Amino acid sequence: MRPAVTSFHHASTGTWTYVVADEASRDAVIIDPVLDYDWRSGRTGTKSADQVLRHCEERRFKVSWILETHAHADHISSAPHLKARLGARVAIGQGIRKVQAAFKKIFGLGDDFTPDGSQFDRLLEDGEAIDAGTLRGRVIAVPGHTNDSVAYLFGDALFVGDTIFMPDSGSARCDFPGGDAAELYRSVQRLYALPEDTRVFVCHDYSPGGREARCETTIREQRASNIHVRDGVSEQEYVEMRRKRDATLDVPNLLIPSVQANIRAGVLPPAESDGVSYLRIPMNVLGRPL
Ligand SMILES: [Fe+2]
Repeated sequence: MRPAVTSFHHASTGTWTYVVADEASRDAVIIDPVLDYDWRSGRTGTKSADQVLRHCEERRFKVSWILETHAHADHISSAPHLKARLGARVAIGQGIRKVQAAFKKIFGLGDDFTPDGSQFDRLLEDGEAIDAGTLRGRVIAVPGHTNDSVAYLFGDALFVGDTIFMPDSGSARCDFPGGDAAELYRSVQRLYALPEDTRVFVCHDYSPGGREARCETTIREQRASNIHVRDGVSEQEYVEMRRKRDATLDVPNLLIPSVQANIRAGVLPPAESDGVSYLRIPMNVLGRPL
């Protein structure tokens, strides 16, 4: 099966959203949709998500699943907006419970936030099937960047989330709670065992060197030339490189708002008595000392 894949680039966060479809039956899924967010004002918007929605509506796609590759730390998910309009359900890796527990502590969330994954419609295990009409997918657990990270394989199209990026951009950081460079290396090896012609669709691209943003490569290209993890790079070499590099990275611009929404399946914290939803900022907890 060679499903049709349409990509949408969210320029301000460098995120790729995908619509995967069987064009004959019109069965489709959406992967990693983004909510627009202005950090200066705290405003959210749905222009980007509505482009995805329009694409699905114009083609009369039957979207049964909105799939998250993990609880993102760099953009807020627009899953609730798309779910309301399309009647689709939202799924994420079962490791979300560990991610929720870690961030519940970091953000000092109260008893009203339960880290049991119940905010999502379905929690996915390694090897599970995604049934979307004639479109059938498989979940591949790829922990390392986060506990909840999963990749999705639909026919010859693999959606890798934050594991590897385009070959000239390497791999995802492993310094978030639950991150583990050795684990990520092993997850990448599982992906590299897939057929070499498998189309690989990445979750982010930041246009290194000013080249245009790209989203698609193959297992063959990754194994030959990924700057962090290609054939011949040992686990130990990778882990050393990753630890050194992660020690230089800043906290992502939108981690604080993104995580608080995304551990709730993209829903903002419940409104307070004045009808307004508020986010929390844990002071002197995240990142390195100044
Ligand atoms: Fe991520």
